[in-house]
Amino acid sequence: MQKTILITGVTSGIGKALFEHLQHQGHFVIGIGRNAAKLKLLAHKSETPEQHLLLTCDLASFSAIEKTIETVKQQFKDGLDVLINNAAVVPKNKKLTEDGFEMQYQVNHLAVAKLSFGLLSLIRKKQGRIIITSSNAHKRAKFDVDDLEATGKYHPLRSYMRTKLYNIMFAMSLREKENVPVYAVHPGLVKTEIGTKDTSKLYAAIWRLFTSRGIRPEKAVSTYTYLVEAAHPEALYYYRSKPEKYLAVIDDAAARQLLWRETLKAIHKDKQSPELI
Ligand SMILES: NC(=O)c1ccc[n+]([C@@H]2O[C@H](COP(=O)([O-])OP(=O)(O)OC[C@H]3O[C@@H](n4cnc5c(N)ncnc54)[C@H](OP(=O)(O)O)[C@@H]3O)[C@@H](O)[C@H]2O)c1
Repeated sequence: MQKTILITGVTSGIGKALFEHLQHQGHFVIGIGRNAAKLKLLAHKSETPEQHLLLTCDLASFSAIEKTIETVKQQFKDGLDVLINNAAVVPKNKKLTEDGFEMQYQVNHLAVAKLSFGLLSLIRKKQGRIIITSSNAHKRAKFDVDDLEATGKYHPLRSYMRTKLYNIMFAMSLREKENVPVYAVHPGLVKTEIGTKDTSKLYAAIWRLFTSRGIRPEKAVSTYTYLVEAAHPEALYYYRSKPEKYLAVIDDAAARQLLWRETLKAIHKDKQSPELI
């Protein structure tokens, strides 16, 4: 049966491979990207223009996400089967977004929460599910109660690992609190350009060398396909379509609650949210 699937970060790497693969499987895909020119090129090259909608949205901006949520709600009133939160960044230097948060904290984590909450009613309509691209890099992250945003002494990889940890913590909390199926995925080591964007030539070269033994993005889609199609996958975190171990702090209810409260405070900055309880 054709599903309606929204994917973030479809202009390169894993998101692009997923965008193409899921259409090939017969699904309708709403693809989100920050770069209008890249989206145009993607549309131009597509062999299945009737099977997708491409939307420009900078996930580093809450107001842009809110506009996108409204557009999707208007155009897909029947609901969404799957939301795949996939986009992420690893800028070398500390940057703040227009909303005042560290870039990775906002794009890799807060945007996931903002979009998931905003589209939850559509997902419920179809008894759908949410998938979040995390990473086994989270296993080297430190959960620091005093510096959730990891801005104390910014280091790109430290921030990245922490946001990938938050992806799984948030997935577990969302599952528990909203009673919706949520999964996190480790895609494996994948030859993409993520480590070459917004960074130095040296860091980019190290990333290319590091991922030279990685898989092609097209090979990373199988776990997502499994989670899109399987009847009721039970585990929280998957790698190669199988449950994968995750860091112990993710099972710590107090740590998850702290992240949950701070996340909701951040994404509802200007509003008093009933979910803050
Ligand atoms: N590659 C790996 O080995 C690996 C391993 C584990 C986990 N992951 C995870 O896999 C996911 C995909 O990464 P990738 O490796 O495929 O990297 P990628 O090729 O750089 O893809 C990231 C996508 O996110 C988009 N994006 C970034 N910032 C955005 C923003 N503010 N608004 C909207 N879209 C934005 C990028 O757009 P542009 O095209 O404009 O840059 C791109 O389409 C990430 O969550 C990453 O953490 C990757």
